[in-house]
Amino acid sequence: MDKKVTVVGAGNVGATAAQRLAEKELCDVVLVDIIEGVPQGKALDLSEAAPIEKHDAHLTGSNDYEASKGSDVVIITAGIPRKPGMSRDDLISTNAGIMKNVTEQIAGMSPDAVLIIVSNPLDAMCQVAFDTSGFPKQRVIGMAGVLDSARFRAFISMELNVSVENTHAFVLGGHGDTMVPLPRYSTVAGIPITELLPKDRIDAMVERTANGGAEIVGLLKTGSAYYAPASAAVEMAESILKDKKKILPCAAYLEGEYGINDLFIGVPVKLGATGIEEVIQIDLTEEENAALQKSAAAVQELKELLKKLKS
Ligand code: APR
Repeated sequence: MDKKVTVVGAGNVGATAAQRLAEKELCDVVLVDIIEGVPQGKALDLSEAAPIEKHDAHLTGSNDYEASKGSDVVIITAGIPRKPGMSRDDLISTNAGIMKNVTEQIAGMSPDAVLIIVSNPLDAMCQVAFDTSGFPKQRVIGMAGVLDSARFRAFISMELNVSVENTHAFVLGGHGDTMVPLPRYSTVAGIPITELLPKDRIDAMVERTANGGAEIVGLLKTGSAYYAPASAAVEMAESILKDKKKILPCAAYLEGEYGINDLFIGVPVKLGATGIEEVIQIDLTEEENAALQKSAAAVQELKELLKKLKS
């Protein structure tokens, strides 16, 4: 393949993302992890599936960042996942250290790469990667909104018994309990769901979406969601690798857009070969804007916590 993607963290999200990238023949894939043998073993296992799955993507695994050299896109999933009863924010201290270490090494090997951050707490981890890499804001992007809106879409499809392909949904804000699903901009075949469903049903879906991660953690008990998170990261990578210019909700570093400054938060962006090509500003009602600002305040608190941990 003429594109190269490194996935850091060969755990559940990372290995699933590697599988999807390879099976879609988007790129060659390098899996990097600190555990000896795991990235090598998973890359070999996936390579041995290739003749059956009919793809020619090369997969390699390594504990050494040298193998990641010259990547076009780097998906960072390294970290510890959320355990039952643990909020994403509890993870911040451990995962910030891991993110700093990973980003330093990645930035040295692939100075032109676009970084897709997956590790939680997402908005804070984006900040760590941005500060550590020194990359321009267009090339540090957080995976959250694509996952959250896919969850919302899945629930809309279940509720109305229609194809998921007919659904579209928008979720803005931080990737946490304060995320802002936007029913007005969420549609089935172009029709806003506010015209198709009563308010109480929409409210229930909005709440289920905001608790989507916790619902899976509660069921799995020993880890967090990974199929949908991997799919979401790969959709973003695909738009970048193929320069598709898809509009997707992603965590982006805002400097004044939506009245928010110097903060990573989920907004609609256009993703192309150079990363974020545009932050799309949509009109929000007073209520929607208030919810977004509340979410921004929650992310700001995490940013302050990060600063405290540093000092
Ligand atoms: N460098 C490289 N890899 C690391 C490092 C590090 N410093 N620290 C941990 N890892 C690896 C682990 O060895 C493990 O293989 O990251 C991987 C994480 O995989 P899982 O534990 O299976 O976690 P996963 O479910 O994939 O979630 C990863 O994504 O959705 C988020 O909240 C989730 O932050 C978590 C991340």
